[in-house]
Amino acid sequence: MYKIIRPILFKFFKDPETVHHLALYFLKFLGLPGFSSVAQIFTNINDETLKQKVFGLDFKNPVGLAGGFDKEAYAVKGLEALGFGYLEIGTITRYSQPGNPRPRIFRLAADEALINRMGFNNFGADALAQRLSKLKNLNTPLGISLGKTKITPLEEAAEDYLYSFTKLYDYGDYFAVNISSPNTPGLRDLQDKEHLIEIIQGLANYRAKQTKLKPILVKIAPDLTFEAIDEVLEVCKQLNVDGIIATNTTISREGLSAPAKEIGGLSGMPLKSKSTQIIKHIRRQSPGLPIIGAGGIFTAEDAYEKIRAGASLLQIYTGFIYEGPLVVRATNQGLVKLLKRDGFKNVSEAVGSEN
Ligand SMILES: Cc1cc2nc3c(=O)[nH]c(=O)nc-3n(C[C@H](O)[C@H](O)[C@H](O)COP(=O)(O)O)c2cc1C
Repeated sequence: MYKIIRPILFKFFKDPETVHHLALYFLKFLGLPGFSSVAQIFTNINDETLKQKVFGLDFKNPVGLAGGFDKEAYAVKGLEALGFGYLEIGTITRYSQPGNPRPRIFRLAADEALINRMGFNNFGADALAQRLSKLKNLNTPLGISLGKTKITPLEEAAEDYLYSFTKLYDYGDYFAVNISSPNTPGLRDLQDKEHLIEIIQGLANYRAKQTKLKPILVKIAPDLTFEAIDEVLEVCKQLNVDGIIATNTTISREGLSAPAKEIGGLSGMPLKSKSTQIIKHIRRQSPGLPIIGAGGIFTAEDAYEKIRAGASLLQIYTGFIYEGPLVVRATNQGLVKLLKRDGFKNVSEAVGSEN
């Protein structure tokens, strides 16, 4: 069905952001009580093989929504109805900001890729806290991605992250520290050891005073060298970071069939093998650290490849745009088959099995 609608949507709405807004309206509607329960009958794959506990949270399946799709938690109930094992909202910043001028998302259909330079457009941590305070009966783990406001100097980044963390602490099941978007000037410098320690230490100190200890994850760029990744892993170990998300979009243009002139982060198929290599590296260096794998997942086979490389959980963004809402079901269904084919009783047994 989506394969029929998609060319029409892509043809009539030249700016992918318009289609994105339409999708969010549709998902908001799908999230209404009657609709979501009907949708879940078709989308949910309830299979013991897919269930896992990772960083202390229960996941009914490993397929999550990647950060950036629903930055302001506008349609979480509808997204839950599509069968995702968990949702990551944000990236949210301390202050509200408009992001970069439109157009700022570009389709590279021939390469099943996107380039985006959104620039963390969002209404700020206070407004998100307000919205989440009204959200009821979400049965899917909710991650909240935190970023730095553009106007905040890098030296004050730690305070910026801490502000959003404290405001949103009650509402998230885990928190992702996004230091890897290519679209906020200087942000990726926060992957340096000194900056990262300052940010994580601030969050960890606040968390230590809470009754419930919620997982803190770090999201990295695929453009880091293995040496730079090892430094991030050292910080993760030193400060008991609960997991790592690999990866964000890339500034590289490798793997495209034609040169792309737009500036921004590249996602989708051309990122697939790079992010898998990074997952393998992290798994080898830090076998105990849970990894969320993202980058070019379109099918169950892609998902399985990332799991065998070392990812316990997965996230999809570009594949969701190209394959449509049923990609979650198809990926989970296919994963069950692949796991059973290879004799795994549970997805956790397959994690890192190829490393
Ligand atoms: C339009 C767009 C916006 C994004 N915004 C964010 C964001 O706000 N925060 C974030 O952590 N990642 C963001 N990402 C990156 C994705 O979460 C994901 O890490 C990346 O796209 C690789 O996965 P994919 O190949 O499945 O898209 C964005 C990606 C796209 C395409």
